Amino acid sequence: METTKNILDVKNVTVSFDGFTVLNDLNFSIGYGELRFLIGPNGAGKTTLLDIITSKTKPTHGKVVFDGKVNINEWLEHKIVQHGIARKFQTPSIFASLTVYENLESAISFRQRSMQLFGRLHHLQAERIHETLELIGLENKINIKAGALSHGEKQWLEIGMLIIQDPKLLLLDEPVAGMTRQERNRTGELLQRIAKDRAVAVVEHDMEFVRAFANTVTVLHMGKVLCEGQMEQVQNDSRVVEVYLGRKQDEVKPRKHERTTPPRKIGVQHPVLSAAT
Ligand SMILES: Nc1ncnc2c1ncn2[C@@H]1O[C@H](COP(=O)(O)OP(=O)(O)OP(=O)(O)O)[C@@H](O)[C@H]1O
Ligand SMILES: [Mg+2]
Repeated sequence: METTKNILDVKNVTVSFDGFTVLNDLNFSIGYGELRFLIGPNGAGKTTLLDIITSKTKPTHGKVVFDGKVNINEWLEHKIVQHGIARKFQTPSIFASLTVYENLESAISFRQRSMQLFGRLHHLQAERIHETLELIGLENKINIKAGALSHGEKQWLEIGMLIIQDPKLLLLDEPVAGMTRQERNRTGELLQRIAKDRAVAVVEHDMEFVRAFANTVTVLHMGKVLCEGQMEQVQNDSRVVEVYLGRKQDEVKPRKHERTTPPRKIGVQHPVLSAAT
């Protein structure tokens, strides 16, 4: 165990794939109960950083400390989940043929269920599900099949399925991609509510969304932290301006992971800059 004021410390992490350095001696921390936004151009290493934190990818060098536990990067992925790191991918993993309620029920972990076998099984479970329904704003949709929900509602349901497991840190990769403006706003408010009880890290390209809901922002570029601070300060930082201005759209690398939305256009009209000028 290590005593730290941060829930997460990524220390000097380097990741290389076939000689290509994706994260380069990266240091990154998140405080307890903090809502942190991560931005940066395509290929900056944002998703890879989440892969490192969840032990999906192992670092070539460096270590990850989570909630005082050192070298969690050596753990298996399921152990990371058990210790309280939840991750939301872009494509929601919900059960389309089950109702909203049943989806949340299915997400209550085995550990919680077996504990409840000795006690007030049904009552506790139902209470937890109702609290979560209220949090994600789907209390009027409990008997709707998840497959019939809107895109945004599906995303909120998945967030609920993660929150019901009571993680200490929630990681989200581009949660508002494909959402309407109204859905984006509701998602921002939801993330702020969630961050009252736990730490949340959000990778996002939608700068309007980041500006509206971010407090502290970290900018990644070429596998390193380029800049970190309040959104206001970050979007006026000359290095950030250069990174977003200096890349033409045809230079943007396609990423290897599955993409459900078209690549963002990065160029002179990029919204991180439009508000800065
Ligand atoms: N498994 C892998 N093998 C080889 N290269 C990889 C692998 N995963 C990622 N990369 C490369 O690492 C770089 C960083 O990718 P990553 O997906 O982390 O970027 P990102 O910041 O999430 O980008 P985007 O904004 O497009 O999602 C890219 O050049 C990508 O092609
Ligand atoms: Mg990514």
